[in-house]
Amino acid sequence: MSRNYNFCAGPAALPNEVLDQLKAEIPDWQGKGLSVMEMSHRSKEFIEIAETAKQDFIDLLEINDDYDVLFVQGGASLQFSMIPMNLLENNHALCSYLDVGQWSKKAIKEAKKFGQVEISASSADLSYKKYPKPDTWKIHPDSIFTHLVLNETIDGVCLRNLDNLPKRSLVADCSSCILSEPLDVTKFSMLYAGAQKNIGPSGLAIIVIKKDLLEEKDSLPAMMQYKTYADSDSMYNTPPTFAWYLSGMVFKWLKKNGGLTNQKNVNESKANKLYSYIDQSDFYKNDVDKESRSIMNVPFLLGEDSLNSKFLAESEGNGLLNLAGHRSVGGMRASIYNGVPEEGVDALIDFMKEFEKNNG
Ligand SMILES: Cc1ncc(COP(=O)(O)O)c(C=O)c1O
Repeated sequence: MSRNYNFCAGPAALPNEVLDQLKAEIPDWQGKGLSVMEMSHRSKEFIEIAETAKQDFIDLLEINDDYDVLFVQGGASLQFSMIPMNLLENNHALCSYLDVGQWSKKAIKEAKKFGQVEISASSADLSYKKYPKPDTWKIHPDSIFTHLVLNETIDGVCLRNLDNLPKRSLVADCSSCILSEPLDVTKFSMLYAGAQKNIGPSGLAIIVIKKDLLEEKDSLPAMMQYKTYADSDSMYNTPPTFAWYLSGMVFKWLKKNGGLTNQKNVNESKANKLYSYIDQSDFYKNDVDKESRSIMNVPFLLGEDSLNSKFLAESEGNGLLNLAGHRSVGGMRASIYNGVPEEGVDALIDFMKEFEKNNG
């Protein structure tokens, strides 16, 4: 199997070991003569796959019994709607949002359809290059919940220090940082993540929600209510079985490799190497505030924009894929999720050095 290094922001690189296992299991899962994709979701085999995946996720994040974990289709974007639909009583209810990047803006736009949104902090005037410190957030006393995107994938901006989070009902989009390091779930009422970065295939979102938020909402369609998922072990209808199964394989891989503490060490090492190289170079630039830098998404600009297409063509020729920055910001972006090994970052830095030598 020939594998390149994939720096895509999502759907993103999966660990090679997981793909090897998948390849072996696809035609014949554990001697049953069929693949997981062909199994009934009500079969005892699939129920065990599903329950094990859920438990492994709970173990990795050390989630306590006050929370339920739900597997929901529709990606993280559906959560932008489901959160205000489920957590707000009516269109007059107040909720707070941090405006810290492109995904925050999308979440805010949806929330405005279901309630009154106040912006408790914004870094728009800093072009989203710095995450506002928690002690500057202004949360209205009547606000039902406060939503934040913990790691803004496009801008490469992250809230790295969670020590001083306000003791309010916090809801966090962790799509691009989940499982990258340990996370104290008890600081949040709810968190969620689209699967296609550190978890598994796209289309699935995993929700961690305090059980006391799981209220019946008769006015909502069944598939839009968290309670429906909680009451049915996320199997009210046919769940995305393949995504669930493959995510479970990723969780086992993480557990086998030292869990999230090890992941934090590896991820910090990868990110530090890349930022250090960029910072000492006169050719590459990352202009995110140093304390707000993401360890998952590293955007960078070249000395001249006119070199972007050359950089992309040559990097791809060297087996380094998907380095283009998001279309809204341009430049480059290396997403260095759990599935990107440290050797991938080393290979990228070697290529960047060579490119700088030839074009700088
Ligand atoms: C932080 C963040 N939130 C939400 C989304 C949207 O996820 P989805 O495409 O699964 O709806 C993304 C996608 O990249 C993201 O990075």
